[in-house]
Amino acid sequence: MVDRRDDTGASDEPRAVRPVAAEPPRFPPGIAGKRRKPWLAKRRILGRTLRGILAMSDGHLPEMVDLWVASWVKTLPSIDFEARRPWLVDHLGAARAKGAVVRVAIVETGDVVGFVLIDPASGYLDQIAVHPDQWGAGIAEALIGEARRLSPEKIVLDVNADNPRAVAFYVRQGFREIGRGVNARSGLATLKLEWRRTEG
Ligand SMILES: CC(C)(COP(=O)(O)OP(=O)(O)OC[C@H]1O[C@@H](n2cnc3c(N)ncnc32)[C@H](O)[C@@H]1OP(=O)(O)O)[C@@H](O)C(=O)NCCC(=O)NCCS
Repeated sequence: MVDRRDDTGASDEPRAVRPVAAEPPRFPPGIAGKRRKPWLAKRRILGRTLRGILAMSDGHLPEMVDLWVASWVKTLPSIDFEARRPWLVDHLGAARAKGAVVRVAIVETGDVVGFVLIDPASGYLDQIAVHPDQWGAGIAEALIGEARRLSPEKIVLDVNADNPRAVAFYVRQGFREIGRGVNARSGLATLKLEWRRTEG
């Protein structure tokens, strides 16, 4: 038998090729997640779809406090809003006892995603907050619409000057600056804004 090996000892006989297992198809994580869990995408849409604006009940309070903290942590990360949870609960209770009104925004998942606190007697809007996951979804606009219904002649509020998202939102809603001040609690500069009903 002829030895077909060369000097290196390698043979030029064709070798059996071992079949390589086909790689499973790879998708970017987002696509893969949506293909495997389409209900997640649906839930996300429902979570940004307003079901209605309701009068606040005590059962709404835990979600309201959570969304308030989440929205403010994202807005002013340097301030410890977690520590202010008890303050918010007391503040809402005291304001309501004096005649102020709280309305909550509920989405199609049943979650509370925003709220507004306004005193219809003075038109002072004390709080408005929307969960950051729902920013840009029109929830804040619906809450301001409800505030206008409760106080149809005018709305006044104070906003941190260094809160560009809120300021842009209010300007788009027809508010204008009527003064400047300082937040007594944080020491931060504030703007006083006002919206007034216009004829026609
Ligand atoms: C203020 C708040 C209720 C507004 O709700 P929202 O859903 O974020 O409001 P919108 O997305 O409809 O409007 C925000 C606007 O700011 C714009 N914006 C976002 N970041 C911005 C920035 N850094 N500078 C300027 N404008 C900005 C957005 O583009 C949007 O304007 P557009 O709709 O014309 O594009 C919400 O952001 C929130 O809960 N913030 C934390 C709590 C707070 O600041 N409350 C108000 C205290 S007075």
